[in-house]
Amino acid sequence: MHEDVLILGSGYIGKELYQQISSSQGSTASLLNRTTGGYRKSYDMFLEEIKIRIEKFKPRTLINCVGVFDSSDVFDDESLKFDKIFVANTKFAWDVSRIFCRNTERASTWRNIVNIGSESAHIPHTDSALYCASKAALKMLTKNMARDLRDEKICAFQIDPGVVRESPMSKDVLSKGKTEVSSIEVERLCEFIICILSFSPYVNGNCYKIGNIIR
Ligand SMILES: NC(=O)c1ccc[n+]([C@@H]2O[C@H](COP(=O)([O-])OP(=O)(O)OC[C@H]3O[C@@H](n4cnc5c(N)ncnc54)[C@H](OP(=O)(O)O)[C@@H]3O)[C@@H](O)[C@H]2O)c1
Repeated sequence: MHEDVLILGSGYIGKELYQQISSSQGSTASLLNRTTGGYRKSYDMFLEEIKIRIEKFKPRTLINCVGVFDSSDVFDDESLKFDKIFVANTKFAWDVSRIFCRNTERASTWRNIVNIGSESAHIPHTDSALYCASKAALKMLTKNMARDLRDEKICAFQIDPGVVRESPMSKDVLSKGKTEVSSIEVERLCEFIICILSFSPYVNGNCYKIGNIIR
């Protein structure tokens, strides 16, 4: 059995991406989420589910739409936030990329790892130090994977959107008065991701900032 694309994280962006890819001719996609039917799997259980899916369907492309936003400042005394944000935004990408590399096979066509980062990987935003740092770390992880995996014919790149309009995450961001961020509609963002994917492997190691300034 074979599927083209495995999307991780059925949040606002993951769902739209799944719809666009599944409705385009000649592509198949599947979507996995850690929470299903109100039940939230542990981190390790979710990784195990992903491994089983990858072993069975051998997707050629992995798109990681998992992440959390949380505002933070240096006076925050909730130290657990650091782990929560870095696990979701950085560590998860590392763990699933390793599973993907080990359980899919080299062929004449390239395999792809696509991470959804954020504009915050490039620009500091008020009261978002941990989010920005976790996305900046993800950016360097993507770039290094691109370098280390190219001989295996794996292309890794990252899409770094500004605020995605109407998304639940955008409400958190904008409620903090972050008007310095740029924005984009989810439909346009997903069209952009699919378009960039079509240029694999020429996009290996690149991180694409997308969004226009809100005024
Ligand atoms: N929305 C925006 O404005 C925006 C802007 C720039 C970048 N991004 C980035 O785009 C990605 C997707 O955003 P979105 O708007 O689709 O967010 P969303 O609707 O909040 O979805 C986030 C997804 O991540 C999953 N998740 C969170 N923490 C996890 C963890 N520790 N382990 C496994 N899964 C976890 C959630 O699963 P559950 O359903 O189980 O919670 C959900 O499927 C994120 O990386 C985000 O940082 C979003």
